[in-house]
Amino acid sequence: MIGIFDSGVGGMTVARAIEHICPGYPLIYFGDIARTPYGSKSPETIIEYSKRNTDFLLNHGATVIVIACNSAASTASDALRSHYTVPVLDVITPATRKAAAVTRNKRIGVIGTRATVRSKVYTKGIQAINADCTVISQACPLLVPLVEEGWLNKRETKMILRRYLHPLKRRQIDTLVLGCTHYPLLSTLIQPRIGKRVQLIDSSVEVARYLKEFLDNTPDINNKLLKQKMDSRFFVSDSTAPVRQLADRIFGRTIHLEKVDA
Ligand code: DGL
Repeated sequence: MIGIFDSGVGGMTVARAIEHICPGYPLIYFGDIARTPYGSKSPETIIEYSKRNTDFLLNHGATVIVIACNSAASTASDALRSHYTVPVLDVITPATRKAAAVTRNKRIGVIGTRATVRSKVYTKGIQAINADCTVISQACPLLVPLVEEGWLNKRETKMILRRYLHPLKRRQIDTLVLGCTHYPLLSTLIQPRIGKRVQLIDSSVEVARYLKEFLDNTPDINNKLLKQKMDSRFFVSDSTAPVRQLADRIFGRTIHLEKVDA
């Protein structure tokens, strides 16, 4: 199974993109709702939680891991890759490549959690591809709780977004990386506030495309996954009404969330 984890429901935007771009593969998802948000936690804690999540997915049959959380990917990717032998794909690398490829004026904005912005992974990754790029990052710590609460179209959410996006707009970016898997749920609010000429890069879609490329180039893993005739499963470490509603909304169908003590 393709194992996917996030600190909450945001990673379901990755699972949904994987379902569209790589149909027919069984998924196993773990959302660590009980400990979300990761973005405001220390690197040690994020690494510890990420290992715990990976162990859970491996114990339930995952053969590939997708870190569907920018906060975890920015902080724990190296630790996971050196600790486990299974392939570990992260949500950041593909979005970095895409942003560096599509920018015309070489001014790229990144929005993410505090952990992601603190790690500077997007800045380093984009500038490693093209040293002429200027990367302007903005931490948006209030957005994850608003999304988890289902406040996707509230006046307060719009106000906060305007405030976060203003400095990026002033710096005339032409590309904006949604560096958190919760943010695609706000993209229809983000686009008009940042300007319609700014291209949004959805890290969820980019990692799904990257996974497809990976599976096409790794036939042994691909064949093994295709032979597994299992249904996808969605686990969470806590289950609340807003979380269940959001999960259904992301997929456009009823998602059965299995609560576990992980
Ligand atoms: N979905 C996570 C991300 O992509 C953010 C949630 C969190 O900070 O826990 O960074």
